[in-house]
Amino acid sequence: MERLDKLIASQGKYSRKEVKQLVARRRVTVDGLSAKSADVKIDETAAVIAIDGIPLTIKKHLYLMLNKPGGYVSSTEGHDGAYVLELVPRELYRDGLFPAGRLDKDTTGMMILTDDGQMAHRILAPKKHVKKKYLVTLDVPPTEEMVSRFREGISLSEGLTKPAEMELLEGNTAYVTLVEGRYHQIKRMFASCGATVVGLHRVSMGNLTLPSDLPVGKLRELTEEELRLLEELV
Ligand code: URA
Repeated sequence: MERLDKLIASQGKYSRKEVKQLVARRRVTVDGLSAKSADVKIDETAAVIAIDGIPLTIKKHLYLMLNKPGGYVSSTEGHDGAYVLELVPRELYRDGLFPAGRLDKDTTGMMILTDDGQMAHRILAPKKHVKKKYLVTLDVPPTEEMVSRFREGISLSEGLTKPAEMELLEGNTAYVTLVEGRYHQIKRMFASCGATVVGLHRVSMGNLTLPSDLPVGKLRELTEEELRLLEELV
C-alpha cells in the first residue's frame, strides 16, 4: 500500500505538489472513481489509476540509456562541475536514480541510469565479466603488437589485466572490449604501450548497443527489447 500522491510522483513527470493539485481538480481517478484526497492509500499492484482518463502504468523501476557527453562526471557527489544526473529531464527523473557504472569525465557514449540498485549491482559485479566495448582514438595508429599485448593482459600497478580484445580500425582508431572496469583502464593500458588515448566512446555493454538515433546528452527509457538485453547481461 502506498499513498496516492507518493505513488504518482514516484513515476517522475509530476511532483507531489502537482499531484495534489491534480487531485483537487478531480483529474485523478482510482478504479474509475474520482480520487477524493491525495493521501489515500492505494494497492499499487491492483488499482487502476488514471489522470485525465489516461491509465498510468506504474513501473517499479526505471531504466534509462544516456548518450553521455564529455565534460560530465558519472559519480553523484563529491566533484566540482557537471554531473550526468543533471542531464535527466524532469519528466524522466526519479528519486534514487543513479548511473550504473562509471565513465571518466571526458569519456562519451553509453551509460545506463536506473533506480534499481540490485540490477546495477549485478551489472557491475566484477565476476560477471560483462563485456564493455569502446571506440578508442589514439595519438598514433594502434598496432598489431598492441593487439597481442592487450590479448595477453597488461601489467598495471595493481596487477595483470584480463585479456582484452582489440580490433584495429582506420587511422588512429580501434575497438577495445574489456571484461572489467578498473580505474582509467583503457588509458592506462595504452599508456603502457606508449600511446595516449585522445578519445574514448563506449558503444555497447554485452549485446546492448548505444542507439545511433540517441543524440549526445540525451536520455530515453530502455525499450522492452533493450531491457531484455540488459537482463541478459546479468
Ligand atoms: N577506460 C578508461 O580509461 N576510461 C573510461 O571511462 C572507461 C574505460
